Amino acid sequence: MAASAAPNVVLVDHPLVQHKLTMMRRQDASTAEFRKLLREIGLFLGYEAMRDLPLGKVPITTPIMDMDAPVIAGKKLCFISVLRAGDGLLGAMLDLVPSARVGQVGLARDEETLQPMRYFFKVPPNLDERLCVVLDPMLATGNSAVRAVQELKDAGASDLKFVCLLAAPEGLETFTKAHPDVPVITASIDSHLDAHGYIVPGLGDAGDRLFGTKGT
Ligand code: URA
Repeated sequence: MAASAAPNVVLVDHPLVQHKLTMMRRQDASTAEFRKLLREIGLFLGYEAMRDLPLGKVPITTPIMDMDAPVIAGKKLCFISVLRAGDGLLGAMLDLVPSARVGQVGLARDEETLQPMRYFFKVPPNLDERLCVVLDPMLATGNSAVRAVQELKDAGASDLKFVCLLAAPEGLETFTKAHPDVPVITASIDSHLDAHGYIVPGLGDAGDRLFGTKGT
């Protein structure tokens, strides 16, 4: 069972996750290694995010006998990638639930207001009938996470979880204040944000490390 860091925050402190996270943080991890490790950790984060999915029973026949066996029942799932680094967690989630729907939210900082503004928003219909698992590896200031979840709520979503790899305490506070109903699942709560909004010690720019775009 993962540790509970604060109300509605689940810290996945499993040794395998922590080991893989250390490998990812290293500045000499290659793009391929970084991508593979994020996907592997994504499986564990997804496992925790979906821990309380309701189960039903279906009749099956094993080679030995008939039985009523558990299957996932109830709400359908939707994974929402916050572009672009959210895509690094998406593959793992779809490995776990291949039939889930997928949405994307793209946010960019408005240089006048400094607030995140949406430039892309494509989600499946009937979000109100789905558990929406929002994916963004880095919960830094929390501003874009707050905005992404607000956009989804405005589009009808009412049952949401937020999955990230690293969280800064500042971002966690901002997010949980704005959306106390949305649990956060993370592999680490780091020390703080630096003056540029990077998580410390962090791992740098997750999008650049995932896609190999540093310096472009
Ligand atoms: N986004 C990143 O990719 N890295 C950080 O440290 C903060 C925000």
